[in-house]
Amino acid sequence: MALPNLQDFQFRADLAENEIEILKKKIDCMKVSIQSPGESSTIELNQLLQENGKLKHQIAILKRYVESLRKKESNNKSSVTSVSDTNKMDSHTISIYDQLMELLLKAINKAYPDVVDPPVIITLSNNSKFGDYQCNSAMPLSKLLASKGTKVSPRDVANKIVENIAESPIIEKLEIAGPGFINIFLKREFALNILMSLLKAGKVSPPSVKKQRIVVDFSSPNVAKEMHVGHLRSTIIGDSISRLLEYLGHDVLRLSHLGDWGTQFGMLIAHLQDKFPNYLVTSPPISDLQSFYKESKKRFDEDEAFKKRAYDCVVKLQSHEPDIMKAWHLICDVSRKEFEKIYERLDIKVIDRGESFYQKYMEQIIKELDEKNLLEEDEGRKIMWGDKKDVGIPLTIIKSDGGFTYDTSDMACIQHRINVEKSDWIIYVTDAGQSMHFQLIESCAKRAGILTDKQKLSHVPFGVVLGEDKKKFKTRSGDTIKLVELLDEGLNRALNKLKEKGRDKELTEEELNAAKEAIAYGCIKYADLSHNRNHEYIFSFDKMLDDKGNTAVYLLYTLTRIRSIARIANLTPEQIKAAVETTSISLEHEKEWKLAKVLLKFPDVLLKIMKDLYLHPLCEYCYEISCAFSEFYDNCYCVEKNKNGETIKVNMGRILLIEATAIIFEQCFDILGIKTVNRM
Ligand code: ARG
Repeated sequence: MALPNLQDFQFRADLAENEIEILKKKIDCMKVSIQSPGESSTIELNQLLQENGKLKHQIAILKRYVESLRKKESNNKSSVTSVSDTNKMDSHTISIYDQLMELLLKAINKAYPDVVDPPVIITLSNNSKFGDYQCNSAMPLSKLLASKGTKVSPRDVANKIVENIAESPIIEKLEIAGPGFINIFLKREFALNILMSLLKAGKVSPPSVKKQRIVVDFSSPNVAKEMHVGHLRSTIIGDSISRLLEYLGHDVLRLSHLGDWGTQFGMLIAHLQDKFPNYLVTSPPISDLQSFYKESKKRFDEDEAFKKRAYDCVVKLQSHEPDIMKAWHLICDVSRKEFEKIYERLDIKVIDRGESFYQKYMEQIIKELDEKNLLEEDEGRKIMWGDKKDVGIPLTIIKSDGGFTYDTSDMACIQHRINVEKSDWIIYVTDAGQSMHFQLIESCAKRAGILTDKQKLSHVPFGVVLGEDKKKFKTRSGDTIKLVELLDEGLNRALNKLKEKGRDKELTEEELNAAKEAIAYGCIKYADLSHNRNHEYIFSFDKMLDDKGNTAVYLLYTLTRIRSIARIANLTPEQIKAAVETTSISLEHEKEWKLAKVLLKFPDVLLKIMKDLYLHPLCEYCYEISCAFSEFYDNCYCVEKNKNGETIKVNMGRILLIEATAIIFEQCFDILGIKTVNRM
């Protein structure tokens, strides 16, 4: 295939943009018929609406395509590259799925120009005998054609599609099987180019995506209350989502929406005034805020005079009286220090921007909502309805006592994130119990004109954490589990596990410590991330510390094994680097090729996660790499030694394949927030 040159990219981008324009016109025509249905029945209308949706989807795919072409074009200005010439490839790793979608869409359009929005179905093949990917469009296309009066067998449709597929550097061969499946076999040379350029760069580049400004709202514990396992889930999931989006090149703002404002502060402050009257001069030792909170709550419930004083404190806090603010700061600081300890241990970066931050914006948004006549009176409170059909309950914007609520602060917050932070996408990571709240916020923000078609809002819910008895996660004595203690227990158990295997005798103290931490925190994170987040999840140290199956321990072991190979072969990093210039990765053996194909899936795994924000497929992918690597290593000699243990032969092509595996594997660990070690 000839190298596509600069003009070619330009031309292809123009063509694709043309297609977008045509699709947009089609949508406009549909809108007209939708708005003036005339005689059309509801069924036709629904069909139009459905088609409209599909066209929009097609536009989205084309837009991404145009963007990638433009990017290539601009890269071309400095050096001419093409998909077949990945040695000089731009800094993005190619998504095979996107490439195949594009090829097949074009082929089908060419074969059947009259079919609007043809179904392009591409799946991974689960048996390499039937190719690496499969296109299953022929069957639905044949049905579609039949419904329009043209009878063609699916096999004939498949043949016609294949005839129209343009030559591509990705595809080795195409075969038609069964009723009309098109089996696609990938080209080794293409894989080789991608993996070699990755080795040359010493890192794996992300696939190309449109850069966005994204707020990820996660962790978000509440001051003076314990940071519980639910917040731990939010912290782990939110951090991993942020890591993924950052890796993909987005501009991510990580925010913890602390519960640091509200009426409970009245009783906390009133209690502080009694307990530590000197609090303005010296910092009171309220290190155990939990019990401090409990004491003040008890007094609040039992002592009328105290209750009154607590309410007074709330009023004073709201009018920012200096002494009261000082007390509030003290309490928040104590909490924050506790949260910090957890973040530090788990290596989490997040900015505290709690409810208190939105104080002044709340007044403003209320005024705006009022001016737009969006607030309704309801038994003394002010409420706002979203889409009544969707949600069925309103937001409470002002309580009957004049106070603001969680709803009020979230309305102010979303406005700030859109207008001031200029975010294109806001992601909230909280337990599933808050789904309704975020649905309401979304629908009210749309009604108020704050959230428009330009921004996206996603709630990323997750299920509850249960103990091994499948009941709410508690200590044996029934208390809520303190996170610091949970992490400590993880460390102890990880150390015991290492000792059981006699590793304490093999590793230096420093190595043992690093291994202990990597295992403990890695396991806790991985156990959380590897489950479908919608399901409730059972916290079990025994299961997460198992070194068999899909666990962090198993994966970390695989990585150390991978890394030990170069050591066994006595190769320095410099020698491997030099080999990249002279040697090609070996992809001849069936198991080498299998491993390489798993590695090539990396960009597609990430793009899918970016769409639906489910992280467990990344864990499954890590496991897949692990298994493919083990199969390869069991079947393919990399280093041959003689009886005396001296190296007699090193298969450098295989060492390079191992190196590429390590690079991708480590990048996955990084996105999952799991630290790796050289030895464990
Ligand atoms: N602090 C809340 C909680 O503990 C979570 C806050 C989530 N973010 C938000 N913008 N409402 O449940």
